[in-house]
Amino acid sequence: MRVVRARGAEAFDAAGAAALAGALRAKPTLALTLPTGGTPRGLYRALAAAHARAELSLERARVFMLDEYLDLATYPEGSFAAYLREHLGEVVFNGSTRFHALAPDDDPARLAAYDRALDEAGGLDLAVVGVGRNGHVGFNEPGSPVTARTRVVELSADTLEANFPDVAAARRPRRAVTMGLADLTSARAVLMLIKGEGKSGVARRLLDEGGVDPAVPATHLLAHRDLTIVVEAGLLS
Ligand code: GLP
Repeated sequence: MRVVRARGAEAFDAAGAAALAGALRAKPTLALTLPTGGTPRGLYRALAAAHARAELSLERARVFMLDEYLDLATYPEGSFAAYLREHLGEVVFNGSTRFHALAPDDDPARLAAYDRALDEAGGLDLAVVGVGRNGHVGFNEPGSPVTARTRVVELSADTLEANFPDVAAARRPRRAVTMGLADLTSARAVLMLIKGEGKSGVARRLLDEGGVDPAVPATHLLAHRDLTIVVEAGLLS
């Protein structure tokens, strides 16, 4: 496991971008998943800038969505698909990059088709994940089985509070679809990004304590043989 303790947002974003660019150089047809949320915003800005300078291309890559809300009253506004379009633009939505959307749909046939597409791609080469303050990855909430694949999940109260602080409880989506821990743990490489308010506890749990605990889903990735963690140094001090 490689750990980059990044001092400052710029160092954090540059470390993530360098890891991703390295993986793309090694395999331009990379099959990867990308997270949403606050954590990767700066990383995506760095990717977009590198793409604009023609230093990086995802045109031969295959991008799989990590998760998506179900029952989002404002859909597509506020969806993860919209987030990726907004933050990655032409980096991914360029007519060449193969983009596998996770539809906001609980139809088991659609979910099985998503897993089939992952299998046909040969699984993920790179799983880029953020970490929720309760330790979730994607929307694999505490207690998620490590064997789980793409499925519908109930969102925890803590996740809803973290992601919809200004939305009345009745208008928050209760469910999501997420890629499962089976696909994340079996990715050939994992890039875990830990950043943001309220993440000191989970950062220390992952980096100072170690060991797998199903109550903290991100710990399932600690045993991975090609894991890079980029963490805001301030979270550990
Ligand atoms: C979100 C998403 C994850 C994300 C995580 C952390 O709800 N499901 O993909 O990595 O929680 O989000 P943030 O970066 O905003 O803290």
